[in-house]
Amino acid sequence: MMTRTGPSMVPSKSPLRLGLLGLGTVGQAVLALIEQHGAIYAARTGRSLEVTAVSARNRHRARRVDISVYRWYDDASALAMAEDVDVVIEVAGGVDAAYAVAEAALSAGKHWVTANKALLAEHGQALIALAHENHAMIGFEAAVCGAIPVVKTLREGLAANLVDDVQGIFNGTCNYIFTQMANGMGFEAALADATAKGYAEADPALDIGGVDAAHKTALMAALVSDGTVDFTAVSVEGITGVPDGISAQLAQHGYVLKLLGQCRLLAHGWAVWVYPAAVPQSHPLARIDGVVNAVAYHGNAADFGMLQGLGAGGAATASAVLSDVLDIAAGRGVIAGGLPNGSETTVVPVSERVGAYWVAVSDGGASLTAVLQNISAGLTNLGTALLVSEVREADLRDALNAQQYAGAWIRVEGV
Ligand SMILES: NC(=O)c1ccc[n+]([C@@H]2O[C@H](COP(=O)([O-])OP(=O)(O)OC[C@H]3O[C@@H](n4cnc5c(N)ncnc54)[C@H](OP(=O)(O)O)[C@@H]3O)[C@@H](O)[C@H]2O)c1
Repeated sequence: MMTRTGPSMVPSKSPLRLGLLGLGTVGQAVLALIEQHGAIYAARTGRSLEVTAVSARNRHRARRVDISVYRWYDDASALAMAEDVDVVIEVAGGVDAAYAVAEAALSAGKHWVTANKALLAEHGQALIALAHENHAMIGFEAAVCGAIPVVKTLREGLAANLVDDVQGIFNGTCNYIFTQMANGMGFEAALADATAKGYAEADPALDIGGVDAAHKTALMAALVSDGTVDFTAVSVEGITGVPDGISAQLAQHGYVLKLLGQCRLLAHGWAVWVYPAAVPQSHPLARIDGVVNAVAYHGNAADFGMLQGLGAGGAATASAVLSDVLDIAAGRGVIAGGLPNGSETTVVPVSERVGAYWVAVSDGGASLTAVLQNISAGLTNLGTALLVSEVREADLRDALNAQQYAGAWIRVEGV
């Protein structure tokens, strides 16, 4: 294969100086990419990247990259305020410690590039205000679906649209587990398989509990609703409560199980919801298998579109981190990452969802049919399940509770 030499422009501006917090999977990949492609990056942006300082928990841990060439800080906040750091890259994770460092960096007028969706979903407001005060940029492309350029797509590519719907598969671990369950595995075996292959964290609670997908959904909701999103108002259901065997039952009726995140404009506010849903096998999201992520959107002018790609992995995530760094180097960076610093978006509770539901039945559904007919605009008997459409979720729950229904039911999307 021919060696890529890239453009040959010599940078004329002073280097963009980077302080890197976190030297794990993503941090080391960031350093490796800069080492490999630094010359091309410099030519593309007109400015070279210079890593001036690094920090992590343990200076003496073995790393895949040589960090002895960078100045080490035990204290990450000191790194964030160092004179010779223009951009702080935070790929350490966690919330409280990262928040303190982000505050220090933004207060000192440094730009902040992060892969930390938990931090932004929970403390985004304070950090956005600080960024505006200090004319600082926040880059968070890596925080939303890894390598997929979803932030740029929503914020820039679709800037002329009113985007009223974003829906997708935002967590690769859950998608892998559901893919294996569709192949006949039980939940516990699929989780163990994901862990053995490195697709699930040692503590997978944030992934399988739906919280990781919810963090990303909240960030996308802020972008498309032009408002701030209170993370505590987001409805989050993970995949742990899904009974083994339900995939096979859904497959008989032409559906696939997916953990979906969605931001959708409704009559009285925004749906910002994460839950497992049945999707028709013919739907584009049904074909997204394994650890792949996908983001489907609708804009009033652009109409429908879908992006897919790797949502995790060292190099893939570093690709997104560096896309923000290179924007800053090229002078394309956006104050506070374009996240709104203003009115709060109204988030509608999932109990107000009006849509379709698949309800398993053991007796042909005779007893439930009459009850559900009163509250739904349409009812189809599938034999071993009822497909109930155009029903308000709170009404469905009430009806099922009144019947002391103990079977499985699941929301249906994409019909
Ligand atoms: N891995 C992915 O595929 C992926 C994808 C998207 C987003 N992200 C996000 O990227 C971030 C980093 O993920 P990762 O997978 O690279 O994590 P990781 O492999 O666990 O590495 C974390 C790094 O941060 C350091 N660190 C942790 N807590 C620290 C603290 N309080 N003070 C100083 N240093 C600290 C660790 O230091 P030591 O090495 O000394 O222990 C380590 O170098 C997280 O926010 C994660 O959600 C990761």
